[in-house]
Amino acid sequence: MFDKIANLHQSCFPHKPWSASDFADLKKSGCEIIVSENGFAVWRTVADEAEIITIGVAPDARRGGIASAMLGIIENDIRKHNATKIFLEVAADNIAAKNLYKNNGYSVIGTRPKYYDGIDAILMAKDL
Ligand SMILES: CC(C)(COP(=O)(O)OP(=O)(O)OC[C@H]1O[C@@H](n2cnc3c(N)ncnc32)[C@H](O)[C@@H]1OP(=O)(O)O)[C@@H](O)C(=O)NCCC(=O)NCCS
Repeated sequence: MFDKIANLHQSCFPHKPWSASDFADLKKSGCEIIVSENGFAVWRTVADEAEIITIGVAPDARRGGIASAMLGIIENDIRKHNATKIFLEVAADNIAAKNLYKNNGYSVIGTRPKYYDGIDAILMAKDL
């Protein structure tokens, strides 16, 4: 599972790939992970809040609803843990991801200036 997710992560984030052992460490630290043929996501729930740590879909499988479906799975899991709020960060120039989150009910709650190599990070949240 960790090799598969590392390969998918590299196809989504070629300039900052995470290794299989990075994902194994995330799992050990209590994160939830889903990985399928073309998509992956990692999230963490602590008390009544959750955070999406990473999500991605293989380039040739995009615009087919895979990321939206994964958000649904994540939100169901978070509800089961009785959390009520979900947070994430996205680079200001990542139009695809910003649209994905907006279309799935997430709102902008703040900005971290120049957070990603000079690009602002947009903080988004959704009440469950
Ligand atoms: C962002 C990402 C996960 C979206 O995955 P996906 O499976 O293609 O998303 P979906 O098919 O569920 O798209 C849902 C909506 O998001 C928006 N969207 C997705 N890709 C888009 C694009 N390239 N341009 C504009 N809007 C886009 C659309 O509103 C889309 O709905 P529509 O297809 O009905 O118009 C994918 O592009 C990806 O892996 N990108 C690289 C990694 C990344 O940036 N991850 C997020 C980091 S915060």
